[in-house]
Amino acid sequence: MRAGCLVFTFLLLYQIPGTVLAKEFRLGLITPPKHLWTEAAENFADELHQISGGRHSLTVFPSRQLGNEAQMLQLLQTGALDFAILTISEISNRLPRFGAFYAPYLVEDIDAAAKLLRGPTATKMLELLPENLGVFGVAYSMAGMRQILGRKKIRDVEDVAGIKLRITPFVPIRDFYQLLGAAPTPMPLASVYDALANGQVDAIDMDLETIWKLRYFDYAETLIVSNHMMFPSVGVMSGKTWLQLDEQERSLLTGLMQKHLHKVLDDYPLLESQWQKKIHATGLDVISVKPQFFGSSLHQWGTLWQDKAPDLPALRAEARAIREGRK
Ligand code: BEZ
Repeated sequence: MRAGCLVFTFLLLYQIPGTVLAKEFRLGLITPPKHLWTEAAENFADELHQISGGRHSLTVFPSRQLGNEAQMLQLLQTGALDFAILTISEISNRLPRFGAFYAPYLVEDIDAAAKLLRGPTATKMLELLPENLGVFGVAYSMAGMRQILGRKKIRDVEDVAGIKLRITPFVPIRDFYQLLGAAPTPMPLASVYDALANGQVDAIDMDLETIWKLRYFDYAETLIVSNHMMFPSVGVMSGKTWLQLDEQERSLLTGLMQKHLHKVLDDYPLLESQWQKKIHATGLDVISVKPQFFGSSLHQWGTLWQDKAPDLPALRAEARAIREGRK
C-alpha cells in the first residue's frame, strides 16, 4: 500500500483529534413535527450546521419514521443511528430503576420536575446508560405532567375504576392504573387519536401539550388536571458514534444537544398553563384535583416500587428540598 493511502486509512480508523471528517448525523424520535421535542431536535440540527460552518449535518426523523423506541435503541447500538430523544419510559422498560421518576406526586408541578431533572441524582443515573444500553446519556428533557382525558364524564376516582384507559407502554404507569382498578391499555402515541375517536378506550393518560396539539380534546368530555406524574425524556448519542469522535467534536455535539433539550425544560413551565386554557376554551369540563383524589393507591405504588427503584429516596429528598426552597 502507498504511504499516502496508509495515512488516509489511519486517519479514518483512529480519527486523530482535529481531523474528524464532515459527517451526516441522524436523530430519531417518536414525537410529531409540532412537538417541543421535535422542535428542539430541529434547532439542534440547525445550530450544528451553522456552528460547524456547514461541515456537519443532522437529519431529524420524527414521528417514529425509524421505528418505535425499542427499534431506535437497536439502531443506536449498531451505530446505524447517531442520536435519539427517548422517553424515560422506554429506558425504564430495560432498567427498572428509572421507574423512580414515575413515583406519583414525586414532584407537585412541572417547574419542580424541571429542577429535579437537573439535580445530582438524575444526573448520576445517566451514567448507567453506556454500560447497560450502549448509549451515552447527553441530557434530560421532558414532556408535561400527566393528566387524564376522558371521553365521558369523570368526577371521582370511582369513575376511573373499570374503564379502559390508554397508557404509554411501561410498567410504573400500568401499576398506577391497576391500583386504581382501571384497565390500563398500552398504546403508542400514533394510535391514540383513532382509539379515542372509535371508542377503543374510555380515557387516556396524557400531557397538556399533546392533548392540545394532536387535538385529543375532539373526542373528550373531561380533562382531569391531576399532575400525577412527571414524564422525562433523555437525549442520547450512540456509543459507536461517540467512539468515532474526538474530544472537541464530542463536546460540540453534546453541548448543543444539551442546550436545546434544556430549553425544553425551561419552556414547559411557561407553556403548560396556556395549553390548559386553550383546552378549556374548547368547552371541555376541566377539573383540577389534588393527590387525595387517588386515595391509598399512591402509598401502594410506593410500596410496590421501593425495592425496584433504589434512587427513589434520594429523588424524594431533592424534591422536598425544591418544595421547601419555594416557601
Ligand atoms: C406518550 O406516550 O404519551 C408520549 C410520548 C412522548 C411524548 C409525549 C407523550
